[in-house]
Amino acid sequence: MPDGMKVDYDGLIPNNVGLNDDARVRKALETWHPGYINWWKDMGPEGFQDALVFLRTAVGVDPEGWAKFGFVKMPDYKWGILLASAVEGRRIAFGAHKGEPVWQEVPGEHRAMLRRLVVIQGDTEPASVEQQRHLGTTAPSLYDLRNLFQVNVEEGRHLWAMVYLLQKYFGRDGREEADDLLRRRSGHPDAARMLGAFNEATPDWLSFFMFTTFTDRDGKMQLGALAQSGFDPLSRTCRFMLTEEAHHMFVGETGVTRVIERTCQAMRAAGIDDPTDVAAVRKLGVIDLPLVQRKINLHVSLTLDLFGSEVSTNAANMFNAGLKGRYREDKLTDDHQLVNDTYPVLRLVDGAIVTQDVPALSALNMRLRDDFVGDTRGGVRRWNQVIEKAAYAYRLALPHVAFNRRIGEFASATADPAGELMGAAAWEARRDAFLPTAEDGVYLDSLMVPVREAGRYAGWIAPPKVGIDNKPGDFEYVQIE
Ligand SMILES: [Fe+2]
Ligand SMILES: [Fe+2]
Repeated sequence: MPDGMKVDYDGLIPNNVGLNDDARVRKALETWHPGYINWWKDMGPEGFQDALVFLRTAVGVDPEGWAKFGFVKMPDYKWGILLASAVEGRRIAFGAHKGEPVWQEVPGEHRAMLRRLVVIQGDTEPASVEQQRHLGTTAPSLYDLRNLFQVNVEEGRHLWAMVYLLQKYFGRDGREEADDLLRRRSGHPDAARMLGAFNEATPDWLSFFMFTTFTDRDGKMQLGALAQSGFDPLSRTCRFMLTEEAHHMFVGETGVTRVIERTCQAMRAAGIDDPTDVAAVRKLGVIDLPLVQRKINLHVSLTLDLFGSEVSTNAANMFNAGLKGRYREDKLTDDHQLVNDTYPVLRLVDGAIVTQDVPALSALNMRLRDDFVGDTRGGVRRWNQVIEKAAYAYRLALPHVAFNRRIGEFASATADPAGELMGAAAWEARRDAFLPTAEDGVYLDSLMVPVREAGRYAGWIAPPKVGIDNKPGDFEYVQIE
């Protein structure tokens, strides 16, 4: 086992980066630690800081041994700094520096751009914890409560991962950025988080499942692109984060699946043949499929904005500099420099949505967004299979990329979820068919009643197929005082 893979659990900060032999960085992180714990207690899961939660903790980065399960109080969680193993002889895989050895130190010419990348990624991690902090009080089961907290502590660990990079490689301004990551707050009027979707509310559990399905998947795509970075410590950090991210998307996708399962089951039992008969469905205390669709429309459109403008010199610069690659760059078979290539981009031209070939380097945001959309399709297909199995003709769909956008080509467009452009007034008139309404919120609120008896589930969601770590159905995942 190479040295870098051994995790040191003795110090305050578990790590496999040799913190014991790095007094400067250890000191910096120990100085940052109390502020982090204060932030966790102020902004982390509300009301459960003393509960014992059945959590997995990373104890190593090798595939067999990285997840150890046990009961822990969240403020005592071992937030470690863990990098995936170094790849011997790794070289920069793309851009102007292609073929050069990867950097172990920050390349001076790209320092500002690199720091910004780390800060933006870092800012999203605590933001989602803040967005989800009220959900514990309405969890539909102890199983779901535990999954929420697992996602939360791992987002906390992702913050540690980015703060380590800032403290280790960026000196004084890295330290200031690390402090600012604890200062900003999701949705705060004067000190908001950096990206729009991370300042939105997550008011109910359906939103949580949508967020972890779609917005955590943006995280997966971004981490996938950063894992290609020529700055090796960033690459190794992101590679390990990706192993945790998979669970977050699992929580989201299976959560929505269980909602749909329960709805279909209840409709069948009540003899309802038309899933769009919302009044009848809501009498059963389950979530109607048209509301599931409106939540998809909202969360997908918010998430698409995270990819930035379709045509972007910034994205081209980061790629050229060797800092941020494409998703799965190492699996692609072109020249990895893209100087003479083009890429098709959807644009709004003279009031119509058209495809234009633009220089591939400037279209990298669009490309990553396309990869994201492709990656989401499997989940939607599995959701539809549940509906199909229950013999309902209703189908869920991803909204068109022009729908409800704030950033990029379609920020000024008003398109319906199918991508049909319409006037602003016509759009407003049909808004309630596209996006969740105030009435939907009131209805969901009425369903969000906590269930805290082991093995029991709220009436609007089906139990999971298997327990966490193969635990039996009546396992007490969270022990509340
Ligand atoms: Fe994360
Ligand atoms: Fe995540």
